[in-house]
Amino acid sequence: MKREQWNSRVGFILAAVGSAIGLGNIWRFPYMAYENGGGAFFIPYLFAMITAGIPFMIMEFSLGHKIKKTSPRIFAQLGHTLGIKLEWLGWFQVFIAAVIAVYYVAVIGWTLSYLGFSFSQAWGDNPNDFFFNQYLKLGNNSPSHLGEFQLGIALSMSIAWLMTFLAVFSGVKGGIERANKIMMPILFIMVLVLIGRILFLPGALSGLNYLFEPDFSRLLDAQVWSAAYGQIFFTLSVGFAIMLAYSSYLPTKADINNNAFMTVLINCGFSILAGILIFGVLGYMAEEQMKPLTEVVSSGIGLAFVTIPTAINLMPAPYILGPLFFIALVIAGLSSHISIIEAVTSAVIDKFHLPRKVAAILVCSLGYLVSMAFATNGGLLLLDLVDYFINNIALLLSCLVELLIITWLLKVTVIHQHANESSEFKVGSWFVICLRFISPAILATILMKNLYNTLV
Ligand code: PHE
Ligand code: NA
Repeated sequence: MKREQWNSRVGFILAAVGSAIGLGNIWRFPYMAYENGGGAFFIPYLFAMITAGIPFMIMEFSLGHKIKKTSPRIFAQLGHTLGIKLEWLGWFQVFIAAVIAVYYVAVIGWTLSYLGFSFSQAWGDNPNDFFFNQYLKLGNNSPSHLGEFQLGIALSMSIAWLMTFLAVFSGVKGGIERANKIMMPILFIMVLVLIGRILFLPGALSGLNYLFEPDFSRLLDAQVWSAAYGQIFFTLSVGFAIMLAYSSYLPTKADINNNAFMTVLINCGFSILAGILIFGVLGYMAEEQMKPLTEVVSSGIGLAFVTIPTAINLMPAPYILGPLFFIALVIAGLSSHISIIEAVTSAVIDKFHLPRKVAAILVCSLGYLVSMAFATNGGLLLLDLVDYFINNIALLLSCLVELLIITWLLKVTVIHQHANESSEFKVGSWFVICLRFISPAILATILMKNLYNTLV
């Protein structure tokens, strides 16, 4: 059977960007920047992007493009040349992707519910109480209270699964590429429209000051640098079998270096836009509530489901700005979820020689069943736990092992050469230096620190 291919270069880049741009760009990056030196954070961030993000992306694109298989088969093949077994590394990555998939979808489900709520601000005057006590029903375990929202959560998660399933089921060209070609432009337009409106609200610009005002003294803090590197690895969806799968569908004639640069730059550019949007909203909210910004700033689930709804309540035309925001969030999440499920599905296809449609049904129905655990009362707790483990340990470990094997056991120069042969502009030996020395050293340091913090 001939391997599926992307229809166009733009289609591939949009799909890769769709994977990279996720909830993390919107709810994680702005807070990270604010917390770690504001405007000064962009220095370590750019540094991490150039010394780790771009080389890593080129490496994965080059591998996927060269070997035209998914992660387990790629590593099996690489291991074969060395006489060692490496397939497990690919399956480890696929396993992590599967774990992410089942909890990421819960958040997309909540976001879909909130999209529905946003038309009438159904979250009421106290979004905090609404989210935790009514919507998620934390601390209320009496079965008689099951009902209203729990069913809604299960339903919206089902919708999210259905959309992901349809994209993956319909194939690389007709499903994944098509979905991203529709969703990504919408995402950018919505965020730009939102920024255009929000920046004219009172206080928005002072919010931006908080985000961009540089505190250069923080550059001496190692924590700031490790935050920047951690964010880069997280934001680019590398090390999870995803970009390997996506790039395995590239046609033989493809500009690897250029594609990698584009993907990374668009993702990081989008993060900055998201930062402007979020801090514009926070600045406005601080002004309206007459609070210092430091009291309203938040990230993650709290930002999306408590702070933003609170801010929307205060806005003019909330029934427009609210849905715009939540549609953007749904798209960001969904396009990443599709990529995660594709990583798992394609690995199953490659290994068991199943038709795509069968593999997609298997993977999605299994994932669906497992993910329903997150629709329960314990959902948020479970999610926090898994999320912590993935972000702080599994992701870094997976990237580090992949890097060490490729750059120390194998000849990274082959990958370097392959990338350059297929590209118009070449990357120099800085590429090899970054991948061999800088990235592993930094990954190992952050990983050790996180392990220490977790265990002690
Ligand atoms: N890169 C996505 C983000 O920034 C998250 C993600 C991680 C997506 C891992 C897929 C796999 O939110
Ligand atoms: Na991202």
